[in-house]
Amino acid sequence: MEESAKKETKNSGVKDLAPKEAKAHKEEVAQSIKIFRKNIEAARTSPADKVEAQKKKGKFTARERLQYLLDENSFFEIRTLAKSRCTDFGIKDKDLKGDGVITGFGRINGREVAIFAQDFTQLGGSLGLAHAQKIAYIMDLALEAKIPVIGLLDSGGARIQEGVDSLDGYGEIFYRNVKASGVIPQISVILGPCAGGAVYSPALTDYIFMVDGISHMFVTGPGVVKSATGEDVDFDTLGGSKAHSQKSGVCHMVANSEQDCFRQVRDLLTFLPQNCFEKSLSTSTIDSPDRKTPFLEKVAGMNPKMPFRIQHVIWELADENKFFEIHRDFAKNVVVGFIRMGGEVVGVVANNSDHLGGALDLHASDKAARFVRFLNAFNIPILTLVDIGGYLPGVEQEHGGIIRHGAKLLYAYSEASVPKITLVLRKAYGGAYIAMSSKYLRGDFNFALPSAEIAVMGPRGAIEILYSKEIKSAPKEKVEEIKERLTKEYAEKFASPYQTASTGSIDEVIEPSSARQRIIRALRILKNKRDPKNNPQKGNIPL
Ligand code: HXC
Repeated sequence: MEESAKKETKNSGVKDLAPKEAKAHKEEVAQSIKIFRKNIEAARTSPADKVEAQKKKGKFTARERLQYLLDENSFFEIRTLAKSRCTDFGIKDKDLKGDGVITGFGRINGREVAIFAQDFTQLGGSLGLAHAQKIAYIMDLALEAKIPVIGLLDSGGARIQEGVDSLDGYGEIFYRNVKASGVIPQISVILGPCAGGAVYSPALTDYIFMVDGISHMFVTGPGVVKSATGEDVDFDTLGGSKAHSQKSGVCHMVANSEQDCFRQVRDLLTFLPQNCFEKSLSTSTIDSPDRKTPFLEKVAGMNPKMPFRIQHVIWELADENKFFEIHRDFAKNVVVGFIRMGGEVVGVVANNSDHLGGALDLHASDKAARFVRFLNAFNIPILTLVDIGGYLPGVEQEHGGIIRHGAKLLYAYSEASVPKITLVLRKAYGGAYIAMSSKYLRGDFNFALPSAEIAVMGPRGAIEILYSKEIKSAPKEKVEEIKERLTKEYAEKFASPYQTASTGSIDEVIEPSSARQRIIRALRILKNKRDPKNNPQKGNIPL
C-alpha cells in the first residue's frame, strides 16, 4: 500500500482496506453524511405556506424565537429527528417536523438554560406523545444539571388524533413541572393561542410572559364557551394578555412585541440564581451604598392618608433606581419585584397606597405570598415596605375567602428563612401589620421611619369601639367634636413608632434619608444567614 493511502485509511479509522475499497468506503461515508444533512435540514424546515400564515399573524417562527432569545450561536438542539409513532387520522403522512417542538439548550447572558419552542406550523404546535417526551427529556436534564427551563409555547393543546397518549404526555410534563418547582427557575413564554393542556404547564411554572395581541390562554376556546354556556366572547376578551395580566393574574409580564418579551425574559434571568442551591449573581454598581434617600423624608412628612405610588420609594432605594416589577397590572395594591442594593439582588414586597389605599385583599394576598415563597425558594433576601391600614373589609372579601387567602401571606413570611428586612413607612395597622413581615413572624431587621403609626387599628375605628358608650350617650351636636378629640388623643399615643420601638417590635427608628444605607448594611450583616445548600424550601405552588 502506498504511504499516502495508508495514512488516509489510518486517519479515517479504516484499517487494512485496499485502496479501491477505501475509496468506496469514503464515498459511502460522504453520501451518508449528505443524507444526514439533508434529513436534518428537512426536519428543520417548515412548509412555506405554514410559515407565511404564522408571519401573517405577526408571529416569529419557533426557530427565529430561539435565535432572538438566546445568546448568539448558543443553541444546542437535541432530538431533532424525533417523530410521532401514531398512525391514526393520517398523522403518519403529515411528516411533522420534530413532532411540532424544538428542544435543546442555549445560553442567556452566558448562562446555560434548557429550552423548548413549540412550532405552530406543525399541526398547531399540538402536543402528541413524542412531542411531550422531548420536552420531558430536557426537563429531566435541566433538573439534573440544575439549570432553568424556558418554554416558548404556541400550541392548540393535546393533539386530538393521539387520544389519551397526548393527555398522558401532559401528565408527564405537569409531574416534572412540580418536581422542578422551587429547585430550578421555570419560565413560560406564551407566543400564540394556548389551549387546554398548553395552559396548565405554564400555570405550574414560576413566571408567565404574554405578548399583547398574539398571546391567548384559555382552558376552552370561545367556540366551546359558546356551546357550553351560550356566552359570546372573542379570543382577546376571554384569554388575551389584558385579561390575564389585569384580571385573572395568570400572567406576570406583558410585552408589546416578541422582541420586547425576549428582552424582558433575559432581564428577569439576571436576577435569578440557576437553581435553589445557589445565590443570584452580585454585580458591581457605581451607586454608592451611602447615597441619601431624600424622597423618604418627603414620605415621612406626608399626610398618612395621602396616596402615592410606592414605586417612587423603591426606585429611590434601588441601585441605579432600577426596579424590575412583576405582576405590575394585577392587584396593584401590593407591588412586588426585583431590585439590587449594594450590588445584591433583593426581592421587594410593598404596600401601594395609590390603589385601594394599599389594603390587602384576596388577589394582593395571593400575589405577595407567592412572590415571598419564590424568593425563599431561590435564596433571595426580602425587603418589605409597609404602609397599610389593614385587610380590605367587606362582604365580597369575606365570602371570597380573605381569611384563607390572607393566611397565605402569614404562612409565606413565617416560613421564609432568607434575610428579611422590614421598613414601616407610614401606617401599619392590625392583622396587616403582622402579615407584612413583622417582628414576630421573624423579621430580622424591622425598621420604622419616625412618621410610622403602628397600632391595632386606625384611630377613628379604634375610638368608635373603645368609647362607643360615651359616643352614643353624647348629645347629637357634640358627637363629632368628641370623636375628633378622642381620635387625636389615640393618635398621639400611637402615631409614632416609639411605643413599638420600646418593646422591640421595631428594632430601630431610622432617619428617612439614611434608609438605603441602613438596608444595605443589614443585607451585608445577614449575607450568610442561610446556606443555600441547606435550603429548606422545595416547591413554589401556584397560590
Ligand atoms: C390537533 C390541532 C389542535 C389540536 C390545532 N390543531 N389544535 N390539531 N390537535 N389540539 C391544528 C388544526 O387542525 C390546524 O391543522 C392547525 O393546527 C392550525 O390550527 P387552526 O385552527 O387553523 O389555527 P387558528 O385558527 O389559529 O386556531 C388555533 C386554535 C384552534 C385556537 C388553537 O386550532 C383550536 O381551538 N384548537 C383546539 C384547541 C383545544 O380545544 N385544545 C384542547 C385540547 S384538549 P392544519 O392541518 O389545518 O394545519 C387538552 C386537554 C388537556 O389540551 C387537559 C390537561 C389538563
